Amino acid sequence: MIGKMPKEAAQLRKNIKGIDQKVLTSSRQKHKYIYLDNAASTPMLNSVWSELEEFMSWYSGVHRGTGYKSIISSKVYDECHAMIAHFAGADSLLDTVVMVKNTTEAINKLSYRLGFKPGDIVISTNMEHHSNDLPWRAKTAVKYISVDEKGNLCSHELRQILKQYYPRVKLVAVCGASNVTGHVNDVHELAKIAHEYHCPILVDGAQLIPHLPFSMLSHQNPGHIDFLAFSGHKVFSPLGTGVLIGPKSLFYKGEPEYAGGGTVNMVFDHKIYWADLPDKEEAGSANVTGTFALAKTLTYLQKLDMRKLAQYEENLTAYALKNITQLDGITLYGDKKRVGVISFNIEGMPHALVGAILCFEAGIGVRTGCFCAQKYVRHLLNLEENAAIVDSLAKPDYPGMVRISLAAYNTREEIDHLVEWINRIRGHADEYKKNYHYSSQYGCYYPSKRDDRDINQLLNKFLAV
Ligand SMILES: Cc1ncc(COP(=O)(O)O)c(C=O)c1O
Repeated sequence: MIGKMPKEAAQLRKNIKGIDQKVLTSSRQKHKYIYLDNAASTPMLNSVWSELEEFMSWYSGVHRGTGYKSIISSKVYDECHAMIAHFAGADSLLDTVVMVKNTTEAINKLSYRLGFKPGDIVISTNMEHHSNDLPWRAKTAVKYISVDEKGNLCSHELRQILKQYYPRVKLVAVCGASNVTGHVNDVHELAKIAHEYHCPILVDGAQLIPHLPFSMLSHQNPGHIDFLAFSGHKVFSPLGTGVLIGPKSLFYKGEPEYAGGGTVNMVFDHKIYWADLPDKEEAGSANVTGTFALAKTLTYLQKLDMRKLAQYEENLTAYALKNITQLDGITLYGDKKRVGVISFNIEGMPHALVGAILCFEAGIGVRTGCFCAQKYVRHLLNLEENAAIVDSLAKPDYPGMVRISLAAYNTREEIDHLVEWINRIRGHADEYKKNYHYSSQYGCYYPSKRDDRDINQLLNKFLAV
């Protein structure tokens, strides 16, 4: 046990690459870096790094070579798809796992492959990341399910919209969990409703897969999830992978949005014979290393037990919420029930300044701004949908929030340190405002008197030629 951590979470923590990394704070103290920005990207696992290192001696391009290494790498690469399918509860016979770069690419790919016709409609929601909104807007008409004043999805609207536009609705596209409030949507219930209207559902799993156990469920189940998208870098595997899982029947039809090497069996002047799935959808040379790392990471998490990790994260989130709520002058956004994503503001302090102080004084990494979910953030901030307001503001004054996002390796001690610093920032707001300025060089607030030798040393180390 580390503090009040169950053994699964303690094991995960020990396995986090760079967990003991120290950073220099403004008081010239070396402080163990506290990473509370896991919703953006998570660190990698030491064990997977070691497995990858060993595999690299056998690494080769896949599916095209005839050498020994290519045989091994191709088999490993293909098997990794099956491991990823297993983690997501997909059906290996009926579904295909397509490797892409990230969730954004996965959703864009689906938007190309659905083959919309004039009049078709996609239903999305007002709590989506831009990546589950803009790809649909670019292809067809989108109707949005509203959110209430706390940011909860008004799920009952789904049936109304489906009824109103039946049979023109071609997809319901909804996030499994929000990257702003951490609210979790009951995607299987939404799927049941969508299926009553013969409409498939896509779950943007970017914030769901890292935090909660999940299954797409069998194709016979009315709550089955038809399409799932998620990112490797948000689930301890930052080597350039994303995943789109969906029924083979869809991807057998039509042409892939990218064609070229690897996607075909035979090419004639008059006809192209496409390769089998998922090759048809994975144009060009594959990201073998990233796929290997993701499959190994997901298998590790599965063995560790996602339920236990999720339970610990839930307790940690409740602990953080309770302690932040006790402070005066803090606005918390969203309701109580959520994964470990908590957004807030400190009265009278720009969110970006709070983020900078946490970075430079406390050694804590968070995120500030609108988190690529501007509509939702504006709604929670009670701001008008008015582009002119934003145009009239200087960059550091853009509306936004401070977000902490937890993973099952974070500790109560880390939360205590954060809460202590939020309190300190509240108490010394004017002092901090005087000591920081907006730096256009770094694109953030910066301490006016910082000795930058540590940062420059690191930059020289990594960028020296
Ligand atoms: C809910 C949600 N969807 C989609 C994305 C996009 O993920 P990526 O940047 O990996 O494409 C994010 C990233 O923060 C997210 O949180």
